[in-house]
Amino acid sequence: MTRSGRPALAVVGATGAVGTVLLQILSQRADVWGEIRLIASPRSAGRKLTVRGEETEVVALTEEAFDGIDVALFDVPDEVAARWAPVAVARGAVVVDNSGAFRMDPEVPLVVPEVNPHTARIRPRGILANPNCTTLSMIVAVGALHAEFGLRELVVSSCQAVSGAGHAGVRTLREQLSLVAGTELGTGPGDVRRAVGDDTGPFADPVALNVVPWAGSLREDGWSSEEMEVRDESRKVLGLPRLPVAVTCVRVPVITVHSLTVHARFEHEVTVDGAREILATAPGVVLYDNPAAGEFPTPADVVGTDPTWVGRVRRALDDPTALELFVCGDNLRKGAALNTAQIAELVALPARS
Ligand SMILES: NC(=O)c1ccc[n+]([C@@H]2O[C@H](COP(=O)([O-])OP(=O)(O)OC[C@H]3O[C@@H](n4cnc5c(N)ncnc54)[C@H](OP(=O)(O)O)[C@@H]3O)[C@@H](O)[C@H]2O)c1
Repeated sequence: MTRSGRPALAVVGATGAVGTVLLQILSQRADVWGEIRLIASPRSAGRKLTVRGEETEVVALTEEAFDGIDVALFDVPDEVAARWAPVAVARGAVVVDNSGAFRMDPEVPLVVPEVNPHTARIRPRGILANPNCTTLSMIVAVGALHAEFGLRELVVSSCQAVSGAGHAGVRTLREQLSLVAGTELGTGPGDVRRAVGDDTGPFADPVALNVVPWAGSLREDGWSSEEMEVRDESRKVLGLPRLPVAVTCVRVPVITVHSLTVHARFEHEVTVDGAREILATAPGVVLYDNPAAGEFPTPADVVGTDPTWVGRVRRALDDPTALELFVCGDNLRKGAALNTAQIAELVALPARS
């Protein structure tokens, strides 16, 4: 089929951790795009990457790079998105931004196609935002339960993969693993820290053979930026501006897939059977929950897949209105690239929203 007459797409940040997965996803999904233009920093200009089976040259980020582009996906650091998304809009593109630059802007919808697709239609700034990967890794499952039961409170702990910190995060874990592999380390205070050295990359502490109760930067009263984002973004996506949300974010030595423990309290009493029925039929969710057979989602199995996986569904022992869940999602796919690709398709094919 010819691609002429179809909308043109730009991928800004095509060389990054999210951009790389986005190119795979664009090659796998139904092809709605005409030209796909790949954009990155001047460092990467001239590099050739493959998308839809075609070698495509990366061009540097400039104003002219957006000429003729209908939809521009931004997978770049916050400050780059803040500066260049309005440039793309001024050149006639609708921007779908994956950074944190616009997520809480009241004039920028925060879109999860399975939960609030209608919000993508009204975009006063010409920009749509993609939630943070931690929020996205659970919100499709939580949104499905909310639609049926009416959510009243969320208490969440994350186990976040290192690829949430981009290529630098992955590099750091791999280097640290090579330094501790085959040793007896992890048996005395500080032995792992001494082995991996002072440079812990984008993480506050060594991440190999360890867990680090920190993600993001320091906010008021000891909260991390990542924790505040999960709270603020869950409220915005679900349309519940006063929802009580308590979050603790933890980095774990997993390459890709964020996992979360979720305590969700609802308006009325809930049953496990009722919750299972909703989760088993919700678009974008897979219920994988048979602890007697040792069946529940783990990052090692979920990585590279699109859905939000849910297991360990239990009713809270001390509150018949609350459920306990364990949720896993690929932070680079649904947590980032897939959701932006889905939003871009809502823009290109508005009848879906
Ligand atoms: N990793 C995740 O799980 C995840 C999930 C959700 C959202 N996000 C967000 O998505 C964005 C990208 O994250 P990532 O993990 O893919 O980061 P990354 O691996 O560090 O990649 C960054 C990308 O941005 C480009 N870039 C950097 N500075 C630039 C500049 N001045 N001009 C043009 N391009 C520039 C890089 O191009 P070069 O290669 O040319 O330097 C690269 O393509 C961030 O805002 C991040 O917060 C990440």
